[in-house]
Amino acid sequence: MKPAIYVTRLLPEVVMDRLREYFMVRVNPHDRVLTRKEIMKNAASCDILLCLLTDTIDGEIMDVIPNLLGISNYAVGYDNIDIKAANARKIPVCNTPGVLTETTADLTWALILSVSRRIVEADRYTRTGRFKGWAPLLMLGQDVYGKTLGIIGAGRIGRAVARRARGFNMRLLYHDQQRNSELEKDSGAIFCSLPDLLSAADFVSLHIPLHRDTVNYISAGELQTMKRSAFLINTSRGQIVDETALLRALQKKWIAGAALDVYYNEPALTPGLTACNNLVMVPHIGSASTETRTRMGLMAADNAVAIMENRKPAALVNPEIWDCRRSIRS
Ligand code: DGY
Repeated sequence: MKPAIYVTRLLPEVVMDRLREYFMVRVNPHDRVLTRKEIMKNAASCDILLCLLTDTIDGEIMDVIPNLLGISNYAVGYDNIDIKAANARKIPVCNTPGVLTETTADLTWALILSVSRRIVEADRYTRTGRFKGWAPLLMLGQDVYGKTLGIIGAGRIGRAVARRARGFNMRLLYHDQQRNSELEKDSGAIFCSLPDLLSAADFVSLHIPLHRDTVNYISAGELQTMKRSAFLINTSRGQIVDETALLRALQKKWIAGAALDVYYNEPALTPGLTACNNLVMVPHIGSASTETRTRMGLMAADNAVAIMENRKPAALVNPEIWDCRRSIRS
């Protein structure tokens, strides 16, 4: 008999087909996030759980799935999974790094250009019939070309964003816990402290993972350190930015604007944000291209198959427990 996989949301058809080759597949039939109770009930008899960043998977959920041999997350970020709890139960956890890097970097650039050149505002202006002809002062934004881009987080996505900046002849600054020779070599980025980056950059783009130490990484103090003409871009995780402080910064014009793909209490928005004209908001679509969502699904499927076949998955988040992982039931 094939092992059982529970998939918490319907994925692209080619991914579901791949899963069916190896597993008895059960999938959430609804086009919505499952409740915690539903996950507990529906996944109880599975061997592998394939979940999304919108599912919070903690020890209690792991405990109601007695045969759980692994968790495959359909995302590169895995802050939705309690890794400590998985380690304590010797459950391998996988993610989907690499396959969404370029797509997320593209979206970051779409946001940089949208917010600085007021594309969303201009679109609304045009389609609501307010465009009465070219005017010297109409919808003036700010140049991107030749400006300074500050990248926080020198991982794959940060580096891909930096590579794109070459075409805009930008000066590049970056900050991370340590220097990254690849980023410096590829893009000529200059390493600097967080306050130095914040005070010098025209665009600050966030590419760090969410964990205990990065919650509210950008808060009122950091926003006040930024130039009044600067923009903040967040395509990483919402809780990295204190959204209440950001709202204040946008209202009081501490900074020129911001563009967000992710939100503190996603999908809920801090009241007041939608009234800010200097804010571009998109609904967590960093990896949302047909090609990339398919690649992510195939990678999540491959990770799941590898666990079942006792092969170390390509993207194992907790390799330290691999040698003592739960074994396949007899
Ligand atoms: C991820 O994978 O972590 C992104 O946020 C969604 O694709």
